[in-house]
Amino acid sequence: MKSVLNQKDTATLQVNGKTAEFPIFGATHGPDVVDIRSLYKQTGAFTFDPGFTSTASCESKITYIDGDEGVLLYRGYPIDQLAESSNFIEVAYLLLNGELPSKEDKAKFDRSITMHTMVHEQLKHFYNGFRRDAHPMAIMVGVVGALSAFYHDSTDINDPVQRLVASHRMIAKMPTIAAMAYKYSTGQAFVFPRNDLDYTSNFMRMCFAVQAEEYEVNPVLSSALDKIFILHMDHEQNASTSTVRLAGSSGANPFACIAAGIASLWGPAHGGANEAALNMLEEIGSVDRIPEFIKRAKDKNDPFRLMGFGHRVYKNYDPRAKVMRAACHEVLDALDVKDEPLLKVAMELERIALEDPYFVEKRLYPNIDFYSGITLRALGFPTDMFTVLFALARTVGWIAQWSEMIEDPNQKIGRPRQIYTGAPERNYVPINQR
Ligand code: SDX
Repeated sequence: MKSVLNQKDTATLQVNGKTAEFPIFGATHGPDVVDIRSLYKQTGAFTFDPGFTSTASCESKITYIDGDEGVLLYRGYPIDQLAESSNFIEVAYLLLNGELPSKEDKAKFDRSITMHTMVHEQLKHFYNGFRRDAHPMAIMVGVVGALSAFYHDSTDINDPVQRLVASHRMIAKMPTIAAMAYKYSTGQAFVFPRNDLDYTSNFMRMCFAVQAEEYEVNPVLSSALDKIFILHMDHEQNASTSTVRLAGSSGANPFACIAAGIASLWGPAHGGANEAALNMLEEIGSVDRIPEFIKRAKDKNDPFRLMGFGHRVYKNYDPRAKVMRAACHEVLDALDVKDEPLLKVAMELERIALEDPYFVEKRLYPNIDFYSGITLRALGFPTDMFTVLFALARTVGWIAQWSEMIEDPNQKIGRPRQIYTGAPERNYVPINQR
């Protein structure tokens, strides 16, 4: 990545009786940044920003979010345009390379991904070590972390050719590994990928085909799932992407970094929210119980939160949620599931929450996870597979961000500092004197 940090102004700070000056860099879109790398050297103080609410961890050209306006751009292209007009392979190419591909480049990239979809036969033995009722995300963390034991020829992160091979292997094998995790949980045999199917259709077939009969992918459903994958591909420096970057900053191999990202995404406050949101809708069960849950969500003494609502960055409607909502109706119509009770609960919950002063004042809107659960369940996936599908799609963003981090001339090992408020220095006291 070519760094383009242009100083547009200077910031002055008074700390501990010292005056310090810092360059201010301008952005293409969004907030400027104050470069505080010399803060400690100039003032002897650190910044304090738990959760990094006002801290840019890196320079990036991949994704931009305007949380107030509800805008999401992948390499400058609005997410709704890409979801409507593009497809998984083309958007993956865009995120990795920075530009939309020519026909030839797209075909070449597509072929390369297709030719890496199979996994080493011995990888199958990892699944047998898990209980059949293991959560598929636990299996994903384990199996993806083990990939570095199989692909030694693409773990040298300083070799751009090995980084490219590892990137294509990771993107290509995630659907196969995810489908195997699902099949393992059902007790059905694994289904091999097929080279004549597109990325998303291949994944659906590996999940839902059985050896006893051929499986015809419904193009309306695979197109909807392809759109859902596009929505989930990248999202600036979210928790799991920051995990991948931090793991990668030590020089860890890409497979281990992606496994770390999967582990972080699993959390219910992050990628696990789609599973939690559907479980919540099922717990609510009917429209007349919504007020009870709205009350709980507002109660400071109750840890319950409306899953699928709120976001660190979006203080407006998540643009992905709008596309997700449309895809949800598209899938339910295609499957002739008109009276899906959970959809009625979701739409009424959304209506009530968007009018409730608590949610309006705190700018809590539905996020991508609010409608995805209903859609994925209608497509035939069990609830515990929802975050696996999120991880499958986000692998493209994780790989793009990991590559950008490796190539960033300003990048160094991530090593945050702290404010220490523990016990002052003191001497050891022998036990018979305590
Ligand atoms: C994803 O970062 C990303 O980009 C993530 C993601 C991606 O693509 O990578 O977009 C994917 O993770 C989407 C978010 C999915 N998570 C959920 O839907 C879980 C429910 N949402 C919350 O846990 C919460 O909104 C977060 C974690 C998403 C954001 O939390 P923040 O930014 O730390 O905000 P906060 O917790 O400080 O909330 C601000 C206020 C608080 O009240 P006060 O302390 O100010 O009085 O809003 C309240 C919160 O209590 N609040 C909620 C709420 N979310 C926030 N109250 C009820 N229900 C909620 N869902």
